[in-house]
Amino acid sequence: PAQRTELLARCRDLLARENAVLVAHYYVHPDLQDLALETGGCVADSLEMARFGRDHAATTLVVSGVRFMGETAKMLSMDKRVLMPDLDATCSLDLGCPADAFAAWCDAHPDRTAVVYANTSAAVKARADWVVTSSCALDIVRHLKNRGEKILWAPDRHLGDYIRRETGADMLLWQGACIVHDEFKALELELLKTEHPEARVLVHPESPAGVIALADVVGSTSQILKAARELNAPAYIVATDKGMFHALQQQNPDKVFIEAPTAGNSATCKSCAHCPWMAMNSLQGLVHALETGAGEITLDPELAARARRSVERMLDFTA
Ligand code: 13P
Ligand code: SF4
Repeated sequence: PAQRTELLARCRDLLARENAVLVAHYYVHPDLQDLALETGGCVADSLEMARFGRDHAATTLVVSGVRFMGETAKMLSMDKRVLMPDLDATCSLDLGCPADAFAAWCDAHPDRTAVVYANTSAAVKARADWVVTSSCALDIVRHLKNRGEKILWAPDRHLGDYIRRETGADMLLWQGACIVHDEFKALELELLKTEHPEARVLVHPESPAGVIALADVVGSTSQILKAARELNAPAYIVATDKGMFHALQQQNPDKVFIEAPTAGNSATCKSCAHCPWMAMNSLQGLVHALETGAGEITLDPELAARARRSVERMLDFTA
């Protein structure tokens, strides 16, 4: 604890000294989330993180999350320095959608609008027409469908399938998945629901269709938090990364939050649903980045400009 207190103090000093602001995702360690809020940064979903970083006056953004979040922050603020506590923090969706294979897929379907999830590399975003996050994907695809457009969707197959079911849009789906949400199990969730009839079910749409079908609310991390604040049920079963339970409990001290079952956690492991890449973010990494300039995101300016166009479409659409 002494070391933790000392590290937190160093982080506060370094953030101030470097004119830096901390932009954190809900899945990172509670210490980083609390530090972000306490020092004037933010804890947010991936859409809000992008907007917050772009609009903030700090000259250095420290993005505590995974690499695509750092890249998105950088392309929206090429004049700012963007640091990450660990540059190796990636995402199974990003890894599962290499830019060359994605470009070949687009080339094979020139009649379709390419819509990619934010959880992709800058190179994939540069090839896409639109970027979306889980908080705005439904509205944007509905808008494209109303304009008569057919869609190529990458990379998350569960989110894509959910949006296709909800909107009836003509969508071809890349077959990527999030290694965390893909593990939630519908049968076990149904059993857990019968044990907690008073609980509402909140689900991130990267989860399989059977899990989504049992949800009272489906949404991004911020939308899950909003639902937990606004619904008046005493208890909630939550199918998303366990990092979220910190903000859920903080914002709703009188409500009970229960982890949705994954393959491993029914009896043996109580917190299997945690992203290994989000877990790479640490106070030590933050200190190291701010002290040495390690973990800096760099992007080719021409590639960044092309990627920025599809991200800015999303930001304008949701403004
Ligand atoms: P959100 O946009 O809901 O924050 O999701 C990002 C993510 O990586 C979820 O796994
Ligand atoms: Fe990617 Fe899943 Fe981790 Fe989110 S939780 S960063 S989608 S692997």
